[in-house]
Amino acid sequence: MTATAPSRAPEGSFPTGFRFGAATAAYQIEGAAREDGRGESIWDRFCTLPGAVANGDTGDVACDHYHRWEEDLDLLSALGLESYRFSIAWPRVQPDGRGALNAKGVAFYRRLVEALLERGIEPVATLYHWDLPQARQLAGGWAVRETASYFAEYAAAMAGALGDVVEGWVTHNEPWVVAFLGHAHGVKAPGVRDWRTALTVSHNLLVSHGLAVDALRAGSDAPVGITLNLTPMRPVAPKDVAAAVRLDGHQNRWFLDPVLRGTYPEDMVEHYERRFGTLGFGELEVIARPIDFLGVNYYNPAAVRAARRVAPLEAELVTARPPTTAMGWTVDAEGLHEVLTRLRRDYGDLTIYITENGAAFDDERATDGTIEDPSRVAYLADHIEAVRRAIADGVDIRRYYAWSLLDNFEWEHGYEKRFGIVGVDFGTQVRTVKRSGLWYRDYIAGVRGGAA
Ligand code: FCB
Repeated sequence: MTATAPSRAPEGSFPTGFRFGAATAAYQIEGAAREDGRGESIWDRFCTLPGAVANGDTGDVACDHYHRWEEDLDLLSALGLESYRFSIAWPRVQPDGRGALNAKGVAFYRRLVEALLERGIEPVATLYHWDLPQARQLAGGWAVRETASYFAEYAAAMAGALGDVVEGWVTHNEPWVVAFLGHAHGVKAPGVRDWRTALTVSHNLLVSHGLAVDALRAGSDAPVGITLNLTPMRPVAPKDVAAAVRLDGHQNRWFLDPVLRGTYPEDMVEHYERRFGTLGFGELEVIARPIDFLGVNYYNPAAVRAARRVAPLEAELVTARPPTTAMGWTVDAEGLHEVLTRLRRDYGDLTIYITENGAAFDDERATDGTIEDPSRVAYLADHIEAVRRAIADGVDIRRYYAWSLLDNFEWEHGYEKRFGIVGVDFGTQVRTVKRSGLWYRDYIAGVRGGAA
């Protein structure tokens, strides 16, 4: 596959202040799972369940980033990246998810952030990329409101410890995934399969977001946002329109509406209450605390079909038609443009960070010092072009982060699915920049008016 987009952006395509970066998440790269006082997380526990993760893989070592972080920051510099989105492992800085901080854990992130600043790279920290301290899970996890209060304390502690150096905060990464893949479908930690619980979890996550916004603002001047995974839902046929609206409500509006408007979408409240009884979710004014940016993770659109027998949504996703990635996800850059322009149309003038976008492909082995990954080059080129078009259409987009800097632990898929613009040999921990990484470097240099 070849890129359909130009590999050089026309001049003035990206506004002043726009930055290109890459993203990672703590559990997916750090390893050192039992070092320097780190507590257990729900992902450590989930990985021990038979059959939960492909090949029985775990995040115990991952990319060993905890020890190799300097080399990884050098890679960011070598690629000319301007911003880095990473996540803080809650159990590394607060092993039981409450009470005293673990000084060694905090020191790790302090060093990381300071080293980013020394390299002229903007540090943007996500507080929760799915690794709840197991002690909090044992106390009820996100199904209890108390966890939201503990999360706010953790947020306040991070603002205190890092608020002078971190330049952007993301409270949660993809609460839809945590709530529904973690608690309804059970394919991600903590592996619960109960829809009513999943709905309560979605609400508590959103409340914890609002509480964390307040806590971060009290201790840091950096912009604060939340990251949602947004998916255009496309009906397969006219008879599937209502099903697509329902899945849009379930995945997109269920999070966008409370955060940006202070209300849950009525059609979905009605749909869920008919099946599960009164929800009675309050604290909407907390959830709707003003944010400085909305983080958008975009990978693919979905094709939706009505399916009465599939409870409780009575809708199902249809297997994607090619071109698809190694995840089986449709490659469709137009979907990103659609998501971005829809946000402006339905929710008004928002500042947007594209906090993740990228693709897994089965890469070839390294030859001559690089890994040729033409499909990923095409994916990035086409999606960045979609961002450029959305900006030209008036959408206020300020960041773009490729997912991911490194091949890493892709959750229940283990190490099989590779999203990196830098390849990792998990036997030797050797990093090899892929063609897509080189392409991205040259593209950014071109935008900045340097030699490409
Ligand atoms: C997103 C996650 C990220 C990674 C990508 C492929 O849902 O935020 O950690 O797994 O998908």
